[in-house]
Amino acid sequence: MNRKRFWKLGMREFNTQYFDVDKKGDLLVREGNNQYNLRYLAEKFGTPLEVVFPFILEERLEDLLDLFNAQIKALKYRGRFSYHYPMKVNQNKEVVMPLVSEGANLETGSANELWLVKRLWEQATFNPKIKILCNGPKTDKYIRLIDELQHRGLSVMPIIEGPNEVGVFGQSRYDIGVRLDIPPQVTVDSRWDKQVDRFGFSESELLHLGRMRNLKILHYHVGSQIEKQADILQPLRYALKVFTKLKKINPTLDTIDIGGGMPIPYDRKVGYSVANLAGQMLRMMKKFADRNGIPHPNLTVEWGRYIVAPAQVTIYKVIDSKAIAKGTAKKWYVIDGSFMNDLLDTWAIHQKWHVLPTAHLESKKLVKTWLAGSSCDSDDKYTGQNSYVLLPDFDPSSTAEPLYVTFLDSGAYQDPLASHHCLLSSPAKIIAENGHIIVARKRETAEEVGKLFGW
Ligand SMILES: Cc1ncc(COP(=O)(O)O)c(C=O)c1O
Repeated sequence: MNRKRFWKLGMREFNTQYFDVDKKGDLLVREGNNQYNLRYLAEKFGTPLEVVFPFILEERLEDLLDLFNAQIKALKYRGRFSYHYPMKVNQNKEVVMPLVSEGANLETGSANELWLVKRLWEQATFNPKIKILCNGPKTDKYIRLIDELQHRGLSVMPIIEGPNEVGVFGQSRYDIGVRLDIPPQVTVDSRWDKQVDRFGFSESELLHLGRMRNLKILHYHVGSQIEKQADILQPLRYALKVFTKLKKINPTLDTIDIGGGMPIPYDRKVGYSVANLAGQMLRMMKKFADRNGIPHPNLTVEWGRYIVAPAQVTIYKVIDSKAIAKGTAKKWYVIDGSFMNDLLDTWAIHQKWHVLPTAHLESKKLVKTWLAGSSCDSDDKYTGQNSYVLLPDFDPSSTAEPLYVTFLDSGAYQDPLASHHCLLSSPAKIIAENGHIIVARKRETAEEVGKLFGW
């Protein structure tokens, strides 16, 4: 059996083209002719361990920008494409900076995220032409920061989310956007509670807001991990109709920002390709604009998960195993970290992961397992994509060689959501780039974690 195929490595459609297996059965990541042996890194830096690969981020963004720009040219589309990285997905510097260097603009969701932008801008780390979109409810602090940065010359565009913000920004001399609430019947399958959606304005509310001085962007966001292409295209069709009506009142309007949502094949099922989606979106926008006699709108996306998730892996060590008397798996493997702390979406939204051993990938003796986190909670577990996780059969009490497990695609949302249930330390984090390893976050000591709780 081909072990590389068995573990679904080296496959572009699953974003594992960078992963390989060496002769010993160790899991490798290749960056050009540099390679990183994940077992070796786990042994050297200890577990739990997060490994970030900035080159994966850079390649993914570069591919996305090239793809949209090529389609724009091929279709003779006259609007522009721009990418805004939503910082909420992962605010770590080692993620934000490589994306900015590849040409990403930014999207912030809070005053604190915008404060980070301010700091980097003051340090002259950013090209002053970078564009910032500000989503999220605008607290006084957020409004003051937007105002300050606009006055100082940075392109900061608030997206109006509610009536109070119309009063604050509606007649601003700087560019603004407004958020459309897409009605539930238009979208189908996404991670978003549509029944109680409270973001933005309905179509009729928007059309009654009257003229705003510098309205440029119509923005909406219908959810994350949208697994059917139609669920991206249908809201766009709806938004185009609203855009056309709104443009009659606000002739300055020239951009549609579709928010986030492009999915990751966590469950190793191929949904749709980004190339196909880009073509369909642009063709729809062109046809619609030509038919309605308006200029082709610029298109902005805020796809976070799609760019960031594959650029990080999380590695745990199996510290114990127990028999399962009755169940879809045979053994519990207890790991030295916590799903509820380090991969919180496992618990929050029953996230599925691509899990594989970090070494022994050639092993033919596999066993169906459930993985248990180290906290006291019975919810702290991962039971796999098919009610089990297939891993090498292993008994830590009878072998000196440790078993490590690697979770792929852990780069999006898990770090910002992380917590300290049972006062467990967060995983250490390293950055692998150009053949070098940099420690981005040391393992927290008991003293450091205690301090967070006032000790
Ligand atoms: C306004 C907005 N834009 C972008 C995103 C990023 O979404 P995703 O990571 O699914 O692309 C989110 C996520 O919640 C969001 O709320």
